[in-house]
Amino acid sequence: MNQTAARPEPIETASRDEITALQTRRMKWSLQHAYDNVAHYRAKFDAHGVHPDHFRHLEDLAKFPCTTKEDLRQTYPFGMFAVPMEEVLRIHASSGTTGKPTVVGYTRGDIDTWAELMARSTRAAGGRPGDKVHVAYGYGLFTGGLGAHYGAERLGCTVIPMSGGQTEKQVQLIRDFRPDIIMVTPSYMLVIADEFQRQGVDPRESGLRIGMFGAEPWTQQMREEIEGRVGLSAIDIYGLSEVMGPGVACECAEAKDGPVVWEDHFYPEIIDPATAAPRPDGEPGELLFTTLTKQALPLIRYRTRDITRLLAPTARSFRRMGKITGRSDDMLIIRGVNVFPSQIEELVLRQPQLSPHYVLEVRREGHLDALDVLVEPKPDAPGLDGSGREAVAAALAHHIKSLIGVSSRVRMVDIGGIERSIGKAKRVIDKRPK
Ligand code: DLL
Repeated sequence: MNQTAARPEPIETASRDEITALQTRRMKWSLQHAYDNVAHYRAKFDAHGVHPDHFRHLEDLAKFPCTTKEDLRQTYPFGMFAVPMEEVLRIHASSGTTGKPTVVGYTRGDIDTWAELMARSTRAAGGRPGDKVHVAYGYGLFTGGLGAHYGAERLGCTVIPMSGGQTEKQVQLIRDFRPDIIMVTPSYMLVIADEFQRQGVDPRESGLRIGMFGAEPWTQQMREEIEGRVGLSAIDIYGLSEVMGPGVACECAEAKDGPVVWEDHFYPEIIDPATAAPRPDGEPGELLFTTLTKQALPLIRYRTRDITRLLAPTARSFRRMGKITGRSDDMLIIRGVNVFPSQIEELVLRQPQLSPHYVLEVRREGHLDALDVLVEPKPDAPGLDGSGREAVAAALAHHIKSLIGVSSRVRMVDIGGIERSIGKAKRVIDKRPK
């Protein structure tokens, strides 16, 4: 094996002073670039009484206004681009839950940085040149497929651009081509594992060594479930289309203690989601990013709506992020109690008889919201006849009440009763009247 290909880049192990100096220099450029080339930023900065000249140190960033999805909506489709359209090489878009998609653009330089950072992520995950990479993230407007693809190629891997869906074929190709790495949402990994078993093959015989899982929240319990079933090392990779796509942050194989933010390109902050006041490292809140090198779509203090914490560096010199506990828009408020799907996931997976497929249904009962948790038994779970099922459901409802503080009705459905996704799983079905 090529030893240099396994080693982190010098900046990944640089001193904090070096990193701060680089971030400060790049931040100045990015603020100026946004102000000079995007009318929307100029108007917002002016209205706020700030100018890029007011930025000297990283702490000064807090003076600048945040950017939200609403800004991208108002300027749909290309109004936030900071370069002439001829310099935009590629467009991606994420389907918003409401209305128009969020559109993002990339220059040649941006595509190059993205490939570099996805290659870095794959290397951090334990990938090496010559590995075969099965990409089951969707190709197309979603950034997952093409982002993973360019990164794996950049690292010198052999890419199998399968995309999402056609589950039987996924399994066939994995069995025949014997990839080392799979890149896929954790929920679709489980669907693929189920299909292996349906074909009478133990997914641990796939030969897969590494899974790079992201695009949706998943818990530590889910990691253990997948690692146990598929026999690979499950790595958490994070990203969002507005900021780039997959590879904004990625876990390192040797630590697996939360995605390392590639801080030489993205400056993270945590704020109080209600007041937007900055919060110190270690405290939970909403994650913000300022892009430091992006040309086509610079983002200044972009509010991701993801709830997490920033953690001290370990395997690299950059800070890490904790697991995303939820998105502020996924948060359910059931009779006054805040509930994230990942809290329920953790408890579902603590029940040995239950499969990791679950969905939350929220209904309106009179004036109050009510929560149904739909779960499936594991195919091989013993003793799950009528009363056995009821006992497991009652135990889960009890844990949800005592640990999260919310009353719920747990409904055990038949195997296959919960819809499978080929990309991001839909964890919440909202049946409340609009
Ligand atoms: O999901 C990009 C991506 C593709 C990341 C493949 C990782 C792997 P969007 O469709 O714009 O982009 O969705 C971004 O997905 O704000 C988070 O809420 C969620 N998300 C992404 N990665 C993770 C993760 C892609 N590792 C949104 N853990 C983000 C939890 C994640 N949530």
